[in-house]
Amino acid sequence: MKNILVTGGAGFIGSNFINFILQKRDDYFIVNFDKLTYAGNLENLKPSEEKKNYQFVKGDIINSELVDFIFQKYKIKYVINFAAESHVDRSILGSEIFYQTNVIGTNVLLETARKYEAEKFLQVSTDEVYGSLGREGLFTESTPLSPNSPYSSSKAAADMMALAFHHTFGMPVVVTRCSNNYGPLQFPEKLIPLMIINSLNNKKLPVYGDGLNVRDWIYVIDHNNAIDFVLEKGTPGNVYNIGASNEMPNIEIVKLILRHLKKPEDLIHYVKDRPGHDRRYAIDSSKIKNELGWKPEYSFDEAIAQTVDWYISHKSWWERIITGEYQKYYQTQYKNF
Ligand code: NAD
Ligand code: DAU
Repeated sequence: MKNILVTGGAGFIGSNFINFILQKRDDYFIVNFDKLTYAGNLENLKPSEEKKNYQFVKGDIINSELVDFIFQKYKIKYVINFAAESHVDRSILGSEIFYQTNVIGTNVLLETARKYEAEKFLQVSTDEVYGSLGREGLFTESTPLSPNSPYSSSKAAADMMALAFHHTFGMPVVVTRCSNNYGPLQFPEKLIPLMIINSLNNKKLPVYGDGLNVRDWIYVIDHNNAIDFVLEKGTPGNVYNIGASNEMPNIEIVKLILRHLKKPEDLIHYVKDRPGHDRRYAIDSSKIKNELGWKPEYSFDEAIAQTVDWYISHKSWWERIITGEYQKYYQTQYKNF
């Protein structure tokens, strides 16, 4: 049995990871450690909550005493650190919590994993640490880090710290850097769920700037499968880029969603740009493909259609969110930039 601490497992990618991995592996015992911020939702874990090899613990990764207790109690030997403040716009409105959770919290996890001699520490990172691309080229693992937002700078700091723990202490650390995810259970502050939900409600779709910023989209289950590959086979001290070679300008995604929902394009509303908005991300994931044998399995056309359908059929999931605590932010974020 592999005793794995999964942090941030009540968020979008973490909950999809737990539900996915517990379906195919009964040799994993997962402790889901999550603070349940606005982005954490235990409802996401319905398929896993009754399983014998699943345990939820509420807590903050910056709480070193509690993290130590969890390592001891559950004999943790593997860590997958999803826990983070993850939204760029929020990091522009207030950065402190990003450095607390993403940097200090990761430090607590690394120190505790070192003390208990963890066998693998997987730091879930992002392509945003590389900064922004021009029209040509792809991010490789050796692209210099050049983060531009408080969010991406906090993630870059955590990556460097994790790799330093490998270099200095010989800790078995691996870092993954994935491109933009989409799929079920994504919090509706992010582009794709926000556009789907606003379209369904016949509300305006706020497209930043000229709408031509490019993101490289991957289905969340392809990302999670890659994480399992890296956990199993990744070489300590290495970074692995994860992406599905699916670059698209934002406006194309927005129009595609409108077409799928048979809604008019006049819902599109160009708004003030995000400050410091990165122009283009695109990932070269040949290293994980060639060295570990991973490849993405979902086609964009099918997975985005399924994702739109998921939001149509899970109205109660997102209605509770947009009418709850999040409502204030949802209504005011654009004015505040
Ligand atoms: P999310 O915001 O949906 O979920 C984050 C989860 O972390 C929430 O459940 C939240 O409660 C928890 N959390 C936050 N602070 C915590 C703390 N101090 N202690 C314990 N738990 C805490 O984020 P996501 O989109 O699922 O992203 C997960 C990870 O993947 C992040 O590290 C993010 O940087 C990375 N990532 C995300 C994407 C993407 O497209 N969403 C792409 C690449 C990498
Ligand atoms: O690249 C990986 C990153 O992708 C992750 O590390 C982050 O955690 C995740 O949030 C995501 O960051 P982005 O900033 O790329 O995602 P977001 O969904 O916020 O925005 C995607 C693009 O859409 C971006 O160019 C900004 C634009 N956008 C976003 C929103 C919310 C709009 O035009 N309008 C919007 O309302």
